[in-house]
Amino acid sequence: MESLKDQLIKEKLPSHVAVIMDGNGRWAQKKGNSRIFGHQHGVTAVREVTEAAAELGISYLTLYAFSTENWNRPKHEVDALMSLLVSTIGAETKTLLKNNVRLNAIGCKECLPTDVLKNLEESIAKTSSNTGLTLTLALSYSSRWEIVNATKQIARDVREGKINPDDINDDLFGKYLTTNNMPDPELLIRTSGELRISNFLLWQIAYTELYFSEVLWPDYRKEDFYEALLDYQKRERRFGKTSQQI
Ligand code: IPE
Ligand code: IPE
Ligand code: MG
Repeated sequence: MESLKDQLIKEKLPSHVAVIMDGNGRWAQKKGNSRIFGHQHGVTAVREVTEAAAELGISYLTLYAFSTENWNRPKHEVDALMSLLVSTIGAETKTLLKNNVRLNAIGCKECLPTDVLKNLEESIAKTSSNTGLTLTLALSYSSRWEIVNATKQIARDVREGKINPDDINDDLFGKYLTTNNMPDPELLIRTSGELRISNFLLWQIAYTELYFSEVLWPDYRKEDFYEALLDYQKRERRFGKTSQQI
């Protein structure tokens, strides 16, 4: 049997894959451990998927790591997630450099604790000239936050005469979003069996293929990622046209 990776058609790989990494808490609780233990083990899955995407030559990988709504979790869990971010970003920068990965972040940067922001910005700066995969972490991110911010900025630019209201279209709106320098994801994966979007990239996923996996994030491995990509490659993306037109 050909391996899953070998079955992938190189020319039909998505350029941008987005992932809602979900199920850390349930994974840990099933093992009788604290939810934090699950988050710690989620790092392994992040490493696996990043490496798989980089090896395949995928250009953009966007990971939903912490939502605006996640600030409402118990303080000890939020604190643990933030310190995990600090230590992980610090420790992984070497690997990012080795794999030619450029780190990027979207979300409310000023909402993050200063030590998280400092490590993040350092790692972004150190990897900024890398030319391989762009790894974007969505941190303190939510799509409605992003869309509201974009709208505010457009309104300011109209007031200052920089743009004409008649020029506002899909393209222009997209330029005001935090994802302005990347294509829309062709594929969105959510793990842990939950069938919802949870305020992630609402504008950008207008025509994205959705893939839901039952695997809990800490168990997610390269093979699971290949499986999602294979499924994606079997889909017919019609964009409103008929099958015959494709
Ligand atoms: C995803 O796992 C990680 C974050 C949202 C930060 P969860 O922590 O949501 O795990 P479950 O969904 O409770 O199992
Ligand atoms: C979505 O997961 C956010 C991240 C993966 C960071 P949640 O586990 O917070 O989503 P809901 O609240 O269950 O929809
Ligand atoms: Mg969850």
